[in-house]
Amino acid sequence: MSKKSLKPGEKILFAVFGAFFVLALIGFVALEAVRSQMDEPMFTSRTSFTLSAEGRRGSELFRKNNCTACHRAMRNGTNHGIILDGAGSRRSQAWLEAFLKNPEASYAGVTIDHGLPPKEAAYVAQLPAQDLRDIATFLSELKAEQGSAMAQKPPEGSEGLARRLAHAWAPQAWKDKYPERQTPQEQAPPHE
Ligand code: HEC
Repeated sequence: MSKKSLKPGEKILFAVFGAFFVLALIGFVALEAVRSQMDEPMFTSRTSFTLSAEGRRGSELFRKNNCTACHRAMRNGTNHGIILDGAGSRRSQAWLEAFLKNPEASYAGVTIDHGLPPKEAAYVAQLPAQDLRDIATFLSELKAEQGSAMAQKPPEGSEGLARRLAHAWAPQAWKDKYPERQTPQEQAPPHE
């Protein structure tokens, strides 16, 4: 029986895959070694939730009605649509309820999935009003700490940087709309 040898191209391919595999393995072992020595968690969770009775019901409805096919909340679901962890720190219960019932009227931009049929999440607005209220309550109870990716405000102490960036890059229309987000110099009345 003749021994089959690999073609040069195959050798290169296997060597490259092998190198990636070995590197990934070393990285994983190193990461786990460092992590097992740490006293504090490597990544602190900056989102939290305290659910009321209605909120708990809403959370069940959220899963039953397949919202998790497009959204993530409480670490469940996908990243396909908007992540709803921390939603309650950005939106009020009333806004959320109004959006669920009448998405196109309360959304600033054009909606993709929520709205009238044949949009994929059109069924959401047709759910019983009480269910939508409880889901909105649930979402309003998902909070994000200041500084988390889900929070509106930048981390404590870095507001200065955010303001300087806004000063450098934001269009004039935005500056006129949000005067409170500007540097004190900009806010001061012009000298005459
Ligand atoms: C087919 C995918 C899909 C499904 C299913 C879906 N959503 Fe959405 N959702 C989206 C998309 C995309 C947006 C952004 C608005 C838009 O374009 O429709 C959104 C936006 C939202 C927002 C507004 C978030 C914000 O802060 O602007 C809420 C609240 C929401 N969805 C809740 C739900 C709930 C509750 C359900 C289940 C009853 C659900 N969604 C099912 C895709 C989906």
